[in-house]
Amino acid sequence: MAAVARSARLAHRLAALSRPAVGRAVASSVAQRTAFSVSAGRMKSEVIKETEVPVTVYSPDAKGVASSNSADHFSIPVKPAATSAPEAAAAEEDAFTPLQEKVYRQMPRTMQKMSIMGKVVIVTGGARGLGNHMARACAEAGAKAIAIFDANQELGDESAAELHQKTRLPVSFFKVDVRDGNAINAAVQNVVDLYGAPDVLVNSAGIADSNIKAETYDPAMFRRLIDINLNGSFLMAQAVGRAMMAAGKPGSIILVASMSGSIVNYPQEQSCYNASKAGVIQLGKSLAAEWAKYNIRVNCISPGYMDTALNRVPALDAQKKIWKSLTPQGRLGAVDDLNGLCVFLASDASGFMTGSNVIIDGGYTLY
Ligand SMILES: NC(=O)c1ccc[n+]([C@@H]2O[C@H](COP(=O)([O-])OP(=O)(O)OC[C@H]3O[C@@H](n4cnc5c(N)ncnc54)[C@H](O)[C@@H]3O)[C@@H](O)[C@H]2O)c1
Repeated sequence: MAAVARSARLAHRLAALSRPAVGRAVASSVAQRTAFSVSAGRMKSEVIKETEVPVTVYSPDAKGVASSNSADHFSIPVKPAATSAPEAAAAEEDAFTPLQEKVYRQMPRTMQKMSIMGKVVIVTGGARGLGNHMARACAEAGAKAIAIFDANQELGDESAAELHQKTRLPVSFFKVDVRDGNAINAAVQNVVDLYGAPDVLVNSAGIADSNIKAETYDPAMFRRLIDINLNGSFLMAQAVGRAMMAAGKPGSIILVASMSGSIVNYPQEQSCYNASKAGVIQLGKSLAAEWAKYNIRVNCISPGYMDTALNRVPALDAQKKIWKSLTPQGRLGAVDDLNGLCVFLASDASGFMTGSNVIIDGGYTLY
């Protein structure tokens, strides 16, 4: 009897919920959803704009005894919201200072572990985009030297020169195509000769083809993309992994995959890119398992849609609106949004992390 009554009550509640009611938005799609708050009306009339914030701090007395008489009262000024100054913001963004040894020594142990003080870092695809910004972040976070590997001679040279000028760190550029195993081996050996064995590889070189239907995909294009994104990741990891093993050095290999390795993007067809990145993720896991015995960690960063040259093509403008609408944060990732994760994975702070694939996508894959 009780069960019947319970199900009757539930049916009644569901029926009430499904009836359109005044003040309740009936959402048939994400776009039609209306924000709903029970406290918004009351809160509106209570908005207070302080010019200073009163603060009370209770501290124990000299004998360590808690006392309400020893409270310290003071006010902190409230600055009006800063007016936007895009040029100033851009200049600030562009300025970067490498971590100095003196500052490093004063840092708490946890922060020291999160730096990459004294490490030799190779970044592929470092001539521009995400790779370039991760190279800068590594320089800021204490790298001893940075080697940029990229197929683009002009941009690569420019980026290396800029990074060196801004940081005064040893920076080198190697014109290397990640499909070219012999060139990679020669370049990695040269990095060893110049700076010592690499501690970190960030493999960001990659290309994307999209809006190509599988039924008309040119097999030669398909092979080329797999060759760069997947085989290139393998060749780079193999060469750098060998150099780490030869030096008996622990190392961190970071492969830039994509959320496309775990989901199928919408609305564009891009089977080859998605397959290549799924391959990179599985390659990363396999290498992590094999090379743990050498103290070499291998992890993947899987970005969502990022605002880089790769996506800054007029043909993608309409789709970008859809991508943003499907991303809870409502934006594409900024070109430096991978920096923190990259430094963390490169650092000893992530020492127990290997074989992970970290998705960093503004929430895209939540839906
Ligand atoms: N931008 C995004 O939305 C996005 C999203 C997910 C994953 N990714 C991945 O992030 C990585 C970087 O993307 P990005 O947006 O900075 O791209 P980007 O085109 O701005 O930069 C890629 C860099 O890789 C270099 N490169 C390309 N092919 C190469 C090759 N064969 N050998 C050596 N260097 C080569 C290019 O010269 C370029 O400097 C790629 O692997 C990409 O698949 C990007």
